Amino acid sequence: MCGIAGYIGKKEGLPIVFGTLRKLEYRGYDSAGVAYFVKRRKSGVKGVKVVKTVGKLDNLEQAIFDKKSSLAAAAIGHTRWATHGPPNEINAHPHWDCKKEIFLVHNGIIENYKELKEELLKAGHHFRSQTDTEVAVHLIEEYGFEKALKKIVGAYAFAIIYRKEPNKIYFARLGSPLVVGVGQEEYYLASDPTALAGLVKRVIYLKDGQRGVLSLGGFKIGPTRPKVEPLDIDPEQARKGDFPHFMLKEIFEGPEVVRSALRGRLFPERNLVKLGGLESAADKLKKIRRLEIISCGTSYYSGLAGELLFEELSELPAEIHLASEYRYRKDPTQKRAACVFISQSGETADTLAALKKAGSRGYLTLGVVNAVGSSIARATEAGVYNHAGPEIGVASTKAFLSQLSVLALMSLFLSKNKKSKTAKEVMRELSAIPGKIKLILAQSDKIKELAKKYLKYKNFLYLGRGYNYPTALEGALKIKEIAYVHAEGYAGGEMKHGPIALVDKNFPIVAIVTQNGVYEKMISNLEEIKARGGPILAIATVGDKNIGKLADDVFYVPKTVRQLEPMLNVVPLQLFAYYFGALKGYDVDKPRNLAKSVTVE
Ligand code: F6R
Repeated sequence: MCGIAGYIGKKEGLPIVFGTLRKLEYRGYDSAGVAYFVKRRKSGVKGVKVVKTVGKLDNLEQAIFDKKSSLAAAAIGHTRWATHGPPNEINAHPHWDCKKEIFLVHNGIIENYKELKEELLKAGHHFRSQTDTEVAVHLIEEYGFEKALKKIVGAYAFAIIYRKEPNKIYFARLGSPLVVGVGQEEYYLASDPTALAGLVKRVIYLKDGQRGVLSLGGFKIGPTRPKVEPLDIDPEQARKGDFPHFMLKEIFEGPEVVRSALRGRLFPERNLVKLGGLESAADKLKKIRRLEIISCGTSYYSGLAGELLFEELSELPAEIHLASEYRYRKDPTQKRAACVFISQSGETADTLAALKKAGSRGYLTLGVVNAVGSSIARATEAGVYNHAGPEIGVASTKAFLSQLSVLALMSLFLSKNKKSKTAKEVMRELSAIPGKIKLILAQSDKIKELAKKYLKYKNFLYLGRGYNYPTALEGALKIKEIAYVHAEGYAGGEMKHGPIALVDKNFPIVAIVTQNGVYEKMISNLEEIKARGGPILAIATVGDKNIGKLADDVFYVPKTVRQLEPMLNVVPLQLFAYYFGALKGYDVDKPRNLAKSVTVE
């Protein structure tokens, strides 16, 4: 999604802002632009130069560095992901007012932009772009910063420079994330704290409604007092290492990600799970009788497995909701429920809106969030961090594993009988999962070969039952996103209710058919597919001697308890999608039309 960068300090601002935009690249964008100060050749007076380009940041880099250098003065930049108007230079940010005095970049959506635009047109303003953003800059020209903000309905993070004030950046936040980086006589702005790693050690996570100005001498932020906090992100973690893509690197981080989620929390020898983040809600948790899980995309699929985990391990009825649906329902939450919001980025607009709805109705809200200090982490009453480190690849991989780890921990934490045979078994197996994922990763070449073999197919059906139904959905989502291949995830039992009509020799089935309580049922489903000539690629348990007779290809995974099977079974599916996309030559880290954090509705 869109990204904002800003710098004011004694150094030349433009290269710093450009470097920050690079770090925001992973969020997905289709055009980019910067505004910075230059000296006018004739008059010597400082002027503002704007450069905007369509496509990759390499184009912007080329356009900027062919030009003469910027001054040591404020600079702002933006990566745009088109919402209002196609991706072109005119619609790219920064936008400016009629007199070319004010330059502005924006994340979010101005919902009442049409009315505002009409009003401004009547007042004689001239517009160039089709964006909602341009309305904001003319509004500031007409009414001034403060009054303009009051007139805007919607979500925004703004960074603004004025031609007459070369040593200042104005900013405001409402509903879209914005962070101020606090350095030594220099200040930064970014829409994502990850982009500031390595640049500053202290940040201010702006709250909704906060606005202010950064200058060489310091910052002014109001109306509420800002809090300066340490920035705890390791810049090394944000790099790719020896891997060709972040996605592959992040899949290979699986074992470590699970270990990090469990560290200091799981003590199988004492039948104990400690979750410090839930302690503040301990009294309320004792009273809850039900869980509602609310999330989007991959986080929804981990929640679908979470639903089963809570039901089975905590003995609490649980229901999963798509955040985008939940937010518009009347009152989908039952009495005495706690609402669990799962989000890697912690900034997903739909999840945040659902959270606000649940919070305003007085339900206990809990977060399962990866991005520390993100909006969802802050807005939930209590929660558990994933500790998976920044996820850069746009398609979520390591976060899914980490979410499953946390959900398993939470369901054990809420269990009233941690000494039951099942609870003990799950605790013991959880600690063995990282080693078992490693065994799968060691066979990544086999998956690559399978991807080569199946590369010719254009449609796939992913099948699973029980805990592996969410795994099938996630596997199908991954290949859609990364390889632009049509794939559907289905519950095995639903085959005969429709999708079986699709099966023929050109329609391969990826079947998750590991040995658990629904193994025989899955085998029957596969027999039906075999009878209709559908090629079968099976994910099966090591030692299964029969599956080879039915499936055309088999990838074997280690045995684990059924509750944790998605944590192993998803890994070959992630790798399959990765190799499929990479073999086709696609930009797997930044798939088309997708954004890392979906901060608009
Ligand atoms: C898929 C993917 C998305 C996200 C979804 C929710 O690979 O990344 O489906 O899972 O946009 O994002 P978060 O978890 O940040 O709320």
